[in-house]
Amino acid sequence: MILVLLGPPGAGKGTQAQRIQESRGLTHLSTGDMLRAAVASGSGLGGKVKGIMEAGHLVPDDVIVEMIVDRLAEHGSEGGVILDGFPRTTAQARALEKTLSQRGLKLDRVIQIAVDTDTMVQRIAGRFACEDCGAGYHDTNQPTKAAGVCDNCGGIRFLRRPDDNPKAVRARFEAYEAQTAPLLPYYRSQGLLRGVDGMRTIDDVTAEIEKALDAA
Ligand code: AP5
Repeated sequence: MILVLLGPPGAGKGTQAQRIQESRGLTHLSTGDMLRAAVASGSGLGGKVKGIMEAGHLVPDDVIVEMIVDRLAEHGSEGGVILDGFPRTTAQARALEKTLSQRGLKLDRVIQIAVDTDTMVQRIAGRFACEDCGAGYHDTNQPTKAAGVCDNCGGIRFLRRPDDNPKAVRARFEAYEAQTAPLLPYYRSQGLLRGVDGMRTIDDVTAEIEKALDAA
């Protein structure tokens, strides 16, 4: 299964992708995580995208498409993939179709996770992740079981994202509205889009996504 998760910043794409990956045995590919890894490694790509990401703007299509095409080739998309944060523009959506068709594959389902703006801001403001394994948490919505200790790996160092500040969040939301939201009618017209209510609990959203996938 080739699955795309669409939604504004803080909708829960990463949280849900982690869960669906486990339940369905799919490979989770997050363009945001790939770009953050490039920045952390100090690579040429990282240097190129660091300022763009911190400002909350979209990285140019050619950079993203090259990165994801390489990653799909490396992982072999045949076993199934969840794409989290890609595509984000119509040009990226077309590039995805092309690369899948070259492999004899096609997109099976696009899940839109919908949330309101206040919720989006609250979720982003409280988000943090384990520095060692990347497991994601939230100060109030999804805290670690033991204070200051990662549930997943026992790590004690945590990070907050540099683009999780009010100015960058506003820019990210504007980028979503202007450049990514047009993908909703695009995928609806192809019969691929299913909407889920991202305002519900994390477990409820997972259940709704699973249901949408079973109905596929
Ligand atoms: P990216 O990393 O993709 O960021 P984003 O789209 O802004 O999404 P987020 O990661 O902020 O949110 P999410 O929906 O994954 O929410 P999460 O599950 O963490 O991209 C970052 C940047 O990289 C972009 O701005 C751009 O510069 C660049 N980029 C990436 N891809 C690109 C592309 N294709 N083209 C161009 N540029 C690109 O949840 C948020 C918090 O809420 C967590 O703390 C979680 O615990 C909590 N939470 C989640 N669900 C629930 C729930 N149901 N109830 C309560 N709390 C919840």
